[in-house]
Amino acid sequence: MKDRLQEIQKRAFSQIETAGGLDSLNEVRVSVLGKKGELTALLKGMKDVAAEERPKIGAMVNEARAKIEEKIAEAKQAMEREELERRLATETIDVTLPAKREKIGHRHPNTIALEEVEKIFIGMGYEVVEGPEVEYDYYNFEALNIPDNHPAKDEQDTFFINKDILLRTQTSSVQVHQMERGRLPIRMIAPGRVFRADEVDATHSPSFHQIEGMVIDKHITFADLKGTLSEFAKEMFGEDTKVKFRPHHFPFTEPSAEVDVSCFKCGGKGCRFCKGEGWIEILGCGQIHPHVLEMSGIDPEEYTGFAFGVGLERIALLKYEIDDMRLLYENDIRFLNQF
Ligand code: DAH
Repeated sequence: MKDRLQEIQKRAFSQIETAGGLDSLNEVRVSVLGKKGELTALLKGMKDVAAEERPKIGAMVNEARAKIEEKIAEAKQAMEREELERRLATETIDVTLPAKREKIGHRHPNTIALEEVEKIFIGMGYEVVEGPEVEYDYYNFEALNIPDNHPAKDEQDTFFINKDILLRTQTSSVQVHQMERGRLPIRMIAPGRVFRADEVDATHSPSFHQIEGMVIDKHITFADLKGTLSEFAKEMFGEDTKVKFRPHHFPFTEPSAEVDVSCFKCGGKGCRFCKGEGWIEILGCGQIHPHVLEMSGIDPEEYTGFAFGVGLERIALLKYEIDDMRLLYENDIRFLNQF
């Protein structure tokens, strides 16, 4: 019995050592330790062993079983390690290859231009406020000195929702909301979307953006307006920018002006960019009309103010030398990637 045991163990060991893989290792386990295995068969033969010998033989069988199990486990580990090493050697990853860059979004030129404008005015102590895009006729027209029969009402082709409600055609409506709050002095800019029933072309869109500005305090004069907007133009377009105030008419300001800046492309000599003029118009402005102040409950004898309205797209187009406004709305990634 003892000899038979040693023989089984020896053969099992050599089979384990020569096993070519996990499968043949498993075969050895089944043929020796399995239900119908050799060692199991040996245990079954115990009944033929003398009773006093049985514990000794039993212990020997168990010992042999343990040794074979351990040997199989060791072999299995070695095989797995070898397999891992083989894979590590063959499946190399070249970590020196430059990684593919993740594509990230870009800020829209309108956003960049707006943030720049906001930064300049915040620096001068202005507050940034907003107003509704769907507006009462009163805020968009009437309270701005544009009564029903006023020609300016036709000039800005309005999307009316009904007789009294419309999509605002100008951020000037926010002036009225701010004045109505009754907190003075006011120093605000109000950026936002405006709407006009215009056909789409290189310089028009039914929806675009304006930045409104308004200051109301005691003793505000046209000189304050000129100083403020000259400073803005220089910060926005460069220190050498010259500013020209051209008389104009807006119903809600008196006197009114349009502001031109010297062409930053040619310095004023005249080029394709400024259409040979040397000057580029950037905004409308003026002293707030006393009647406008009065309608919103501000005493024009005590308070005066100025206001201005800038087209955001116009600033973005000028700043980035873009010659077609449609590019700003198409969101073509090849265009946006450049900013
Ligand atoms: N709201 C005017 C427009 O859309 C622009 C404007 C002109 C705004 C003069 C003002 C201003 O505040 O004072 O054409």
